[in-house]
Amino acid sequence: MNLKIGCISGDGIGPEIVKEAVKVLEQVAKKYGHTMEYTQILMGGASIDVHGVPLTEDAVKTAKEQEAVLMGSIGGDPNTSPWYQLEPSKRPEAGLLKIRKELNLFANLRPAVLYPQLAGACPLKEEISKKGFDMLIMRELTGGLYFGERKTTEENGVVTAVDTLVYTEEEIRRIAIKGFEIAAKRKGKVTSVDKANVLDSSRLWRKVVNEVAVNYPQVTLEHMLVDNCAMQLVKDPAQFDVILTENMFGDILSDEASMVTGSIGMLASASLNDSKFGLYEPSHGSAPDIAGKNIANPIATILSAAMMLKYSFDLDQEAAAIEEAVSKVLDQGYRTGDIMSEGCTLVSCSEMGDRIAEEI
Ligand code: IPM
Ligand code: MN
Repeated sequence: MNLKIGCISGDGIGPEIVKEAVKVLEQVAKKYGHTMEYTQILMGGASIDVHGVPLTEDAVKTAKEQEAVLMGSIGGDPNTSPWYQLEPSKRPEAGLLKIRKELNLFANLRPAVLYPQLAGACPLKEEISKKGFDMLIMRELTGGLYFGERKTTEENGVVTAVDTLVYTEEEIRRIAIKGFEIAAKRKGKVTSVDKANVLDSSRLWRKVVNEVAVNYPQVTLEHMLVDNCAMQLVKDPAQFDVILTENMFGDILSDEASMVTGSIGMLASASLNDSKFGLYEPSHGSAPDIAGKNIANPIATILSAAMMLKYSFDLDQEAAAIEEAVSKVLDQGYRTGDIMSEGCTLVSCSEMGDRIAEEI
């Protein structure tokens, strides 16, 4: 099979971690007889430096021509980077929001798994962490507060800022369907998270999710208020299978979920539209403080490449091979600094990529 893959190396540690993911993909290609065709796409600060904007129309067009896009990370340090002197619509993050919208990537899948080998890094009490957890946050990605109308006005010397949270029935239905579909293939449980005790958009969310649930009798549905969910994630994360939620809640809860795994450097993500196309990126940011030092953890990006093989190319066996290789390397005790613990062997970003590629 020939795989047409767009590569957004991006900013900070982005180029280093994408390089390792490509190394692993190349090994997969060799072993399973595929060819990979990579096309570089500029986005974020890297694009600002060349074109003055975080994502050009040409870059969007190129992305659309690919079957999938693998991304590192974008953005810099807002306190020191000149990119943050620009108006908000020209900053690196605007490129990410634009590509999500232009490619209609409404379903963001963020798995949060406690690896048994890394259980020691979990910040929760042992009585909680020993139960393990394996959840997937299904975050709506192209609606809600992120894309509603916003404005800042001044009247009689008083400045007012407005952001709007909008959802249509259809936007809720399509993400709910994705949530139930995936839950049916996992542990069969959806926790739909909203703020229906306050927000109209959440009341609509709940109504539509209930309607969709009727078509999935094999999946158990529960509703949970977002504040309670934030609490439950640290109290009893093992209760969750699929958390289905809107854009902003999903942004916040997915950071929390990743933190309780103790290793944000391990978490992959996929942003999908209604076709097979997807954008695959680690859940972590661009870590400008450690950029260029060859010490970043490439595993989240490598696991994102595995998600890409699975969701965009239906190469389940190849995806499993990557996941198993990661697990083996962890079993062997190799660790980057962020997940280092006593008795393990500290390796660099590129060494970690080498080890994983060798296990394919
Ligand atoms: C994420 C990030 C983005 C978001 C930022 C960089 C705009 O935090 O992917 O979670 O808020 O969606
Ligand atoms: Mn976020």
